[in-house]
Amino acid sequence: MYNVESSAIVNMYAKTILFVFATLLPATIFGQSDAETWFKGGNFYQIYPRSFKDDNNDGIGDLKGIISKLEYLKDIGIDGVWLSPIYQSPMVDFGYDISDFTQIQPEYGTLEDFEELAENCKRLGVRLILDFVPNHTSDQHEWFIKSVNKEEGYENFYVWHPGKVNETTGERSPPSNWLSAFRYSAWEWNEKRQEYYLHQFAIQQPDLNYRNPEVLKKMNEVLIYWLEKGVSGFRIDTIPSLYEVAPDENGNLPDELPSGKCDDPDASCYLKHIYTYDQDETYDVVYEWRELLNKFHADNGGDQPILMTEAYSDLNHIVRYYGNGQRNGSQIPFNFHLLAKVNRNSKAADYKKLIEEFLQAVPSDCEANWVLGNHDQKRVASRLGEKRVDLYNILLKTLPGISITYAGEEIGMTDVIISWEDSVDPQALNTNETTYYAFSRDPARTPFQWDESKNAGFNRGNKTWLPISTNYKCVNVRTESTQPKSHLNVYKRLIKLRKEAGLGAASYESELFGEIYTYKRQNDSLKPIIVALNFGNSWTTIDVSARYGVSESLKVVTASTESQYEEGQIINGTRLTLPNDVGIVLTTV
Ligand code: GLC
Repeated sequence: MYNVESSAIVNMYAKTILFVFATLLPATIFGQSDAETWFKGGNFYQIYPRSFKDDNNDGIGDLKGIISKLEYLKDIGIDGVWLSPIYQSPMVDFGYDISDFTQIQPEYGTLEDFEELAENCKRLGVRLILDFVPNHTSDQHEWFIKSVNKEEGYENFYVWHPGKVNETTGERSPPSNWLSAFRYSAWEWNEKRQEYYLHQFAIQQPDLNYRNPEVLKKMNEVLIYWLEKGVSGFRIDTIPSLYEVAPDENGNLPDELPSGKCDDPDASCYLKHIYTYDQDETYDVVYEWRELLNKFHADNGGDQPILMTEAYSDLNHIVRYYGNGQRNGSQIPFNFHLLAKVNRNSKAADYKKLIEEFLQAVPSDCEANWVLGNHDQKRVASRLGEKRVDLYNILLKTLPGISITYAGEEIGMTDVIISWEDSVDPQALNTNETTYYAFSRDPARTPFQWDESKNAGFNRGNKTWLPISTNYKCVNVRTESTQPKSHLNVYKRLIKLRKEAGLGAASYESELFGEIYTYKRQNDSLKPIIVALNFGNSWTTIDVSARYGVSESLKVVTASTESQYEEGQIINGTRLTLPNDVGIVLTTV
């Protein structure tokens, strides 16, 4: 746990001081090299390869495209880049349905391209993280085909079940009421094998059976294969789905009970996933994978490889991925505690509470992380407010620990409304014309906006796999690089500050001034940094100098583009006026 120094009430404001530097001081203090600690306080960036940069103009992003933009990542200060899946796949779920874990999908490139990418990442000091999808394969994977045919050694590779048979009618039905995350039953009948198989996602994504040790062995080999190719870690996909409850002595599986969260009986939210999510066995597998990575590192040197885990679970479950006291797990269990709970109506107090709950839950030798967007969510700007693009980037980059950006959030990309006819996301396609938009992940997956030229510089071809946003002439890297006040320049300034000041590693002390959430970050080598974020609807004036015991004159490190403040400007901290939706970062002069 982070040490809560004080939770005394000062005046009318809740005051919290969290000392977080114990775990985050520069690596040299612990005698560790950069290779051990490179990810601490890091700036991570997620690329959706299909949408980043299309080098061969076929409408689909590719590895050569990513290689051509690595300098951009270096320039903005990214330490680690995570690629959504690039492996061979029928693309039902755009790469999350893998038919060969060790081959590159031809439309993305070749293994040689991958090697070139890895070499260039090394040269530039941008660590490469791959997506690892252990829960399921594609139904086109040879393991599944062998399992359907009950080939020796593959009979139990997937979760098979004969189902329930009605004694009177002889009719067969699925073994349980479990639902897929993409709607409808999670069980699919296979004619050939005459059994049901489990698929927690699309029908074409059968779940692997982790109760069979051979499966884990194979997946360990996959990790080693990519480690040997020089990657610095993995983002583990949908880790809480890895195990389901084991059948009872009669082979029966229990039904899940209604959750009360929604009234659509076909939607995943209808059930409480107590038998299909967050099972105890899952954590041990993560700890085993961490040990495998540690052993690889001990044997081969180089960077300490990391694990990032994707779990939309409650906080108690998220923190178990860090480790259990005896065994270590993921260095970066994605913090969805914040992402899942905030919306346009959230108050400053909600942010403060959710942030501090996470900080306090993080084990003492681990780091917090901050994430608001990814390829499965609507864009931050569209979800939480276009005027708040900078405010959210300031928040994610000035809190203690690691920050993770989904490509495009640094320039304020917004959702693109994709019609029902043009939708391609399987989660949307499983719904209907009326409801699809709420489920569609296409709007946040449109091509990255590089410049004001045709197709926003994503390619020079005649098509793009999803449409380009109509706002690309203003919202793009080239335009924003040339404007002194732009989302991109605020973002770059924030990373620079993190690097100069070791900001990931400073103490954190906070206070609410009505709808303004403020905090101070400080360590020995750092001038105090004061952050103020206005989550309210009106301009408000506050006194941060008195509250944080700093001089009247304060310097603006950076501030929301919509604000009246300029970088470097000296302001009076006793009368700091913040427009609504604006964030500011200040330091002493
Ligand atoms: C994860 C991925 C998502 C994918 C699903 C199934 O949640 O982020 O994109 O559809 O797993 O692999």
